[in-house]
Amino acid sequence: MRVAMIGTGYVGLVSGACFADFGHHVTCVDQDAGKIAALQRGEIPIFEPGLEDLVAANVRAGRLNFTTELKTPVAKAEMVFIAVGTPSRRGDGHADLTFVYAAAREIATALDGFTVVVTKSTVPVGTGDEVERIIRAARPDAEFATVSNPEFLREGAAIRDFKHPDRIVVGSDAPRAREMMAALYRPLYLNAAPILYTDRRTAELIKYAANAFLATKITFINEIADLCEQVGADVQQVARGIGLDNRIGGKFLHAGPGFGGSCFPKDTVALIKTAQDHAAPLRIVEAVAAVNDARKRAMARKVATALGGSARGKTVAVLGLTFKPNTDDMREAPSIPLILALHDMGAKVRAYDPAGMEQAKQVLAGVTYCDSLYACAERADALVIVTEWEEFRALDFPRLKTAMARPIIVDLRNVYQPDEVAKHGFAYVGVGRPATAT
Ligand SMILES: NC(=O)c1ccc[n+]([C@@H]2O[C@H](COP(=O)([O-])OP(=O)(O)OC[C@H]3O[C@@H](n4cnc5c(N)ncnc54)[C@H](O)[C@@H]3O)[C@@H](O)[C@H]2O)c1
Repeated sequence: MRVAMIGTGYVGLVSGACFADFGHHVTCVDQDAGKIAALQRGEIPIFEPGLEDLVAANVRAGRLNFTTELKTPVAKAEMVFIAVGTPSRRGDGHADLTFVYAAAREIATALDGFTVVVTKSTVPVGTGDEVERIIRAARPDAEFATVSNPEFLREGAAIRDFKHPDRIVVGSDAPRAREMMAALYRPLYLNAAPILYTDRRTAELIKYAANAFLATKITFINEIADLCEQVGADVQQVARGIGLDNRIGGKFLHAGPGFGGSCFPKDTVALIKTAQDHAAPLRIVEAVAAVNDARKRAMARKVATALGGSARGKTVAVLGLTFKPNTDDMREAPSIPLILALHDMGAKVRAYDPAGMEQAKQVLAGVTYCDSLYACAERADALVIVTEWEEFRALDFPRLKTAMARPIIVDLRNVYQPDEVAKHGFAYVGVGRPATAT
């Protein structure tokens, strides 16, 4: 099939490359000329394991190409995907649909022959109706169907998630569109990935409900972690104890510094706004968003406490800046409010991240960026693990102890066992577990 992917960010690039890998002919379109020029040179603008090879192989095979020009690929395509960004709207937190509607208007002018227009961006309930209205108004003659096909991939494991999804959601009542979506996804269907057909509005809501539920699980265990610290219990054992119950499940029960990233923060807020607009407030999700916001800054107080009550004049080494490992994405990363709060408290911050430093420099000023984790630890009064990159999982503690001014580790991801770190003469503070002194 011929596919045009409008928007070549995380989702558009990964989806486009994977569809090409299934054997379809894909053109990825983006209005960012710099991004397209880089892709045409074979450079991948994001850090995502395996993506460079996948893109290169499919470009070589003649199934994948990149352009800033939308008209020709849309005219030739049987399926056009909208995969543009839907950030939080400034001021009120609703999803900003400017890019989606602009893409719909451009697509409308170019449609030629029956085309399925698929929204892959995360969009509030009713957006598909508006996309259909925009296209119909601009092109009363066009033959098309609009479909919602939300994406559930995770950054850092995006290709695997796309190729082995837990489910594929297709929201459309049009039989021809459903058939074409089934044909497009046939390789996954053969792999036994379930396809769930729903109406369009239901599909749109499934995406938000899924993200809100996962954000709720994370926030729940984070609050249980706070309680564990007060009562002397261990949150990791609580998480295991409840997660082994099949009705609960063990995933997304890792206590930490609060959720961040390009999706959960904006999607929970957008869902809250939609629910309020429809007089069906989601109080649980409202609490999740508020608790999570407060938590990120509270992590700086945890560091100050570990330093003896004040961070003023102290040097804090931060390991990991991206919102999770295996990505360079800094959007809503917990490291940002943590570092801002440490600055407010009068601390000096040194930082190291294996992939996110260039992105971090654009959002965090006044930080000393270091080339390695041991350089970062040099003369630090405390070392804070913020993102659980693999290379932070086997720290050389004797080397760290020599490098640091004081042996204090604050492990916001519970990567280490307290006893193990204490053995090397460090004071250790995790999340939701008893702290150990030197
Ligand atoms: N990042 C994720 O992990 C993830 C996962 C699931 C769903 N989503 C959703 O997918 C959507 C895209 O997210 P992303 O992270 O890929 O965004 P992104 O910001 O990385 O990429 C969006 C791209 O769209 C381009 N664009 C905007 N308007 C355009 C237009 N009219 N024509 C051509 N290109 C245009 C931008 O230049 C940008 O390159 C969002 O709705 C997001 O919520 C993201």
